[in-house]
Amino acid sequence: MTEKGLRDVVAAQTRISDIDGERGRLWYVGYPIEDLAEHATFEEVVYLLHHGELPTPAQLDQLVGFLTRERGLSPFGTKIMPILAHTASPMSMLRTMVSGTSTYDPDGWDESPEAQYRKALRLIARVPTMIATYHRLRTGQEVIPPNPELSHAANFLWMLHGEEARPDDVRAMDVSFILYADHTMNASTFTARIIASTLADMFSAITGAIAALKGPLHGGANEESMKMLEEIGKPENASAYVAERLARKQKIFGFGHAVYRTMDPRATIFREFSRRVGEAHGDLRWYEISRAVEESTFEQKGLYPNVDFYAASVYHMLGIPTDLMTPIFALARMAGWTAHVREQYADNRVIRPDSEYVGPPERRWVPLEARA
Ligand SMILES: CC(C)(COP(=O)(O)OP(=O)(O)OC[C@H]1O[C@@H](n2cnc3c(N)ncnc32)[C@H](O)[C@@H]1OP(=O)(O)O)[C@@H](O)C(=O)NCCC(=O)NCCS
Repeated sequence: MTEKGLRDVVAAQTRISDIDGERGRLWYVGYPIEDLAEHATFEEVVYLLHHGELPTPAQLDQLVGFLTRERGLSPFGTKIMPILAHTASPMSMLRTMVSGTSTYDPDGWDESPEAQYRKALRLIARVPTMIATYHRLRTGQEVIPPNPELSHAANFLWMLHGEEARPDDVRAMDVSFILYADHTMNASTFTARIIASTLADMFSAITGAIAALKGPLHGGANEESMKMLEEIGKPENASAYVAERLARKQKIFGFGHAVYRTMDPRATIFREFSRRVGEAHGDLRWYEISRAVEESTFEQKGLYPNVDFYAASVYHMLGIPTDLMTPIFALARMAGWTAHVREQYADNRVIRPDSEYVGPPERRWVPLEARA
């Protein structure tokens, strides 16, 4: 039997994350997302996803030390970035850069589990530098080197904006990374696992994952949500805007989910940050428009917001250009993708589903000259 979109088909066993779509719950290795968003840092979550346990202080220090040392771009990256900054879209840049990074990885083609782990951490460490360098170059600004004193989130904002962000903005960014870090067998993670299952290398698997994330039905939805908020302009316009889109059979981006049948728990947390960041910046406009869209979409179509909807207003208030919102999703998901790739290598069988043939039955060959 064909299950279109493979809904409810279990494609792998995993110890990394779990969802209860009916109750709107999400856990990373058993820890509820709410607890992680309240207490953890992104770096701790990276450790958790890769090791299955929260780090001790010494383990965390070691991880942070490695990530901090590995933030610089490879020689290939440094050389090609000025070209990409003026020719490629942000997600195309990221896809190309991650693919190109394989050429200069110090572990080369070493496929041992230890080398795979180091490659994973280098990717996690470098993606913020790729995004920030790209943005500085394309806007004609001086490139800001990574600051080893700053956390993953604080350093990203520093490299992007050229000034240290305020602590509550850093925390909002850090929590957003945690919320985006993993999400079971979503399209991009599945892509990464399929590629890994052929025993292709980590960079190939992650390049494929970035390609899958790009589309507006997956990671691209946060950018599309922001464009909608801008088009709506004020809360009073939300109801008519939603009605018109639905009448034209267009998607309301940032709403609906393949697994959640209720509120996405990440959206609840992002919504609170949308309010908090708006208040801190003295501008609740984006939060209020978002609330109005949420109400109208529920009333008119019974759909709940997903992770991408409130991420848009949070990132906007943090000064993130709209077209960098999906690359930031990738930055954070790098933690989960790489953990899944390593999990796939550790207990592998090539992923090769079946298909149901619905074309014509066996036919006889017709020579070219006999075809009309
Ligand atoms: C996420 C998504 C791809 C899931 O797709 P799915 O599993 O096929 O969704 P469902 O089966 O629950 O859809 C049920 C119905 O609601 C509609 N629907 C789902 N999400 C919708 C949305 N955001 N806007 C309008 N209609 C939507 C579907 O078209 C379908 O309608 P139909 O029965 O008339 O054909 C889909 O909800 C979507 O496109 N959302 C917008 C993009 C987005 O935010 N993506 C990020 C996901 S984290």
